[in-house]
Amino acid sequence: MRDAEPKTIYLKDYKPFGYLVDSVDLTFDLSPHATRVTSRIAFRPNPEAEDREFFLHGEKLKLISARIDGNEITPEVTPEGLTAEAPDAPFVWEAVVEIDPAGNTALEGLYMSNGMYCTQCEAEGFRKITYYPDRPDVMSVFTVRINGTLPVLLSNGNPKGKGDGWAEWHDPWPKPAYLFALVAGDLVATSDSFETVSGKEVALNLWVRPGDEHKTAFGMEALKKSMKWDEDTYGREYDLKVFNIVAVDDFNMGAMENKGLNIFNSSCVLASPDTSTDMNFERIEAIIAHEYFHNWTGNRITCRDWFQLCLKEGLTVYRDSQFTSDMRSAPVKRIHDVIDLRARQFPEDNGPLSHPVRPESFQEINNFYTATVYEKGAEVIGMLKRLVGDAAYAEALDLYFARHDGEACTIEDWLKVFEDVTGRDLSQFKRWYAQSGTPRLKVTEDWADGSYTLHFEQTTLPTPGQPEKLPQVLPIAVGLIGPNGDEVLETKVLEMTEAQQSFRFDGLAAKPVPSILRGFSAPVILERETSSAERAFLLAHDTDPFNRWEAGRSLARDSLLKMATEDAAPDADYLDGLVQLLRDDTLDPAYRALMLGLPGQSELAGALAEAGQTPDPDALWQAAERLRAAQAVALGDLMMPLYDSCRIDGAYAPDAEQSGKRALGAALLRLITRQDDGAVAAAQYAAADNMTLQLSALACLLQAGKGHAELAAFYDQWKSDRLVIDKWFMLQISEAAPEQVAATATALTEHPDFNWKNPNRFRALFGALAGHHAGFHAAGGGAYRLLADWLIRLDPVNPQTTARMCSAFQTWKRYDSDRQTLIGAELERIAATPDLSRDTAEMIGRIRG
Ligand code: PHE
Ligand code: ZN
Repeated sequence: MRDAEPKTIYLKDYKPFGYLVDSVDLTFDLSPHATRVTSRIAFRPNPEAEDREFFLHGEKLKLISARIDGNEITPEVTPEGLTAEAPDAPFVWEAVVEIDPAGNTALEGLYMSNGMYCTQCEAEGFRKITYYPDRPDVMSVFTVRINGTLPVLLSNGNPKGKGDGWAEWHDPWPKPAYLFALVAGDLVATSDSFETVSGKEVALNLWVRPGDEHKTAFGMEALKKSMKWDEDTYGREYDLKVFNIVAVDDFNMGAMENKGLNIFNSSCVLASPDTSTDMNFERIEAIIAHEYFHNWTGNRITCRDWFQLCLKEGLTVYRDSQFTSDMRSAPVKRIHDVIDLRARQFPEDNGPLSHPVRPESFQEINNFYTATVYEKGAEVIGMLKRLVGDAAYAEALDLYFARHDGEACTIEDWLKVFEDVTGRDLSQFKRWYAQSGTPRLKVTEDWADGSYTLHFEQTTLPTPGQPEKLPQVLPIAVGLIGPNGDEVLETKVLEMTEAQQSFRFDGLAAKPVPSILRGFSAPVILERETSSAERAFLLAHDTDPFNRWEAGRSLARDSLLKMATEDAAPDADYLDGLVQLLRDDTLDPAYRALMLGLPGQSELAGALAEAGQTPDPDALWQAAERLRAAQAVALGDLMMPLYDSCRIDGAYAPDAEQSGKRALGAALLRLITRQDDGAVAAAQYAAADNMTLQLSALACLLQAGKGHAELAAFYDQWKSDRLVIDKWFMLQISEAAPEQVAATATALTEHPDFNWKNPNRFRALFGALAGHHAGFHAAGGGAYRLLADWLIRLDPVNPQTTARMCSAFQTWKRYDSDRQTLIGAELERIAATPDLSRDTAEMIGRIRG
């Protein structure tokens, strides 16, 4: 069956469905190629709807029979669904359909992974399971019976009964179909329990394939911490008798918040010290929290339509980042988030894929699970909290939960609770949801007679479909520092609402140094002409840990740009400041590790493009190599003792303290390896008793062009662990020299373990390829061709993962005409592929512009 002609769907066309659903009863008779789904759905006319058309979504379904109130009918069936004559009164719909889970490689709807049945319904996968009004504003209570021979049969809600070859589940909470889930397999559980604040006992199970049991303990602890945190921080209690988590190997995304039955990509839940890095642990903790937090922000209160996706995702990302800040280090988390925002969201916001946090149209909703909806959506909530204050935020959230529990809501509903609590008019603030593009915030200053004035000017460049931009509300957190390094003004949030606005500070003894946008208080690009001496001053004295890091970051950025474009020498102020910081034992090792980091190559390319220059990937690569070498020289004798001090005695723990030390050790090892040809790295590799140390040592060796023996040994050691082998694929590409990248990737596509239909494996290889800036853009375009070949190959198998990977090309207009011609040809070749999926066609169309 072919995808239909692409249709654009608009927010402004929203209409409620003509019927309400009182209950849904589903029976699954499982069989790999012919699963029968029998549905019994109680409909009733929706008094709020004008249109009474009875259309049910349904895709790739074989309709066996359909009945209304017991009478067999013959509906009109198209590839998108069916239409039938329905009474203008309550009635019961019954249908039997047949589906093919084993043939479902797109991993949407009911599919199979290693002999296990599994579902993924967000956003529009339920329509591949049975005929239904598959839209988030249709909520109902589900009862499910699963008939199948596999030992573990799971669905949403509470268990209702089970016997030999069957199980029944009932979910008392009305939910949209996208939160439906079913799992059937030969699985083993790690079980525990949690007592909620009101004394209810919840059974917790983490289900995995036999053999993975040793990787469940950390996830279980993270779940319990999340449950407790949401009670303590947001007053949210869990609402079922059981909470099940299942790990699955074939999954398009990270994880899914299905009611009472979260399904996780195994890479986002399975963890053990031997096989997972500190970064993996931190990410797993955050994702478990994220999915759990959705129980309230997403499930109990859901979205009216998919344009409101940020209502649940922005808020839930914001909540999981608060959780991580509380569990670990708040400044370190903030810096990680800003690095990530600049790496993933800024290129999106400032390129052909730019779209508002709340988009107004789409062809394929799967293409809008983006960094803009998620991460910029979370930034918008952070700004709102900064503007109204912590107390009003807490009150507004309480009102949100009280007022909208059980409803499918909009951004208007969300903002209204803040307006009602604070009496503020948030109509201008709402532009953050409607306008795409990153605001540029230009700052100049005046100083006279003890008065210091900051002049701000905001502009946002045109983005696709939005030529005109209006000023947005910007919370600008500012502090002032006196010439002796003392803070003369503590952090104050200035509220900018105009295109241009000035703020004056009186009664100052001397001209201060401003620390602007503390904590990255608004997701903007700050532009300020300043000297490297002043930045070095902030690097030494700023009391705001984010801005202190930012001072070093901007020094490094400017230095790299000058090195790449003017062949300048590394900036001495930067190197001096860096040495001082690294010597400072009072600073958290994690923070010092971040200080050693350099802005990514793609971020630098973006900065050049922003300034109207054409980035040269080779020159940027060389600049980073030179600056790393200069860091190593500047740190000199400090490196080895500091590296040694990062060694941990005692048992491995993936906590913030140990991870910070290992992160600093790894950053230093990178520099040490530049000078010792890999001796220390080889020793670390040989002695490593956890994946963090093993992998960081191997990375250093590969980067130095060594480590062939270790690479082979690593494969041998881990060949039966698919998550570690993903790392093995990734690392060889990400540590290759630019001119080797395409060839290395090509060779790896021929490796017997390159199981390209598995999204994790595909992303390991091609994500690393696209993420190696100088390698991806190496002259000749071999990497472009390779990626395009494989996107064309994957598209008919898995459109969603293909479409996501297309964004590797989103920055193509930044580069010189040779590269643009090469990429343009690949984009054209993909676009011309017969039967291209709607997902990929939309992405390529937007990227080409
Ligand atoms: N809703 C999931 C999350 O944010 C993400 C997801 C979207 C997963 C679509 C699968 C499919 O947690
Ligand atoms: Zn989410």
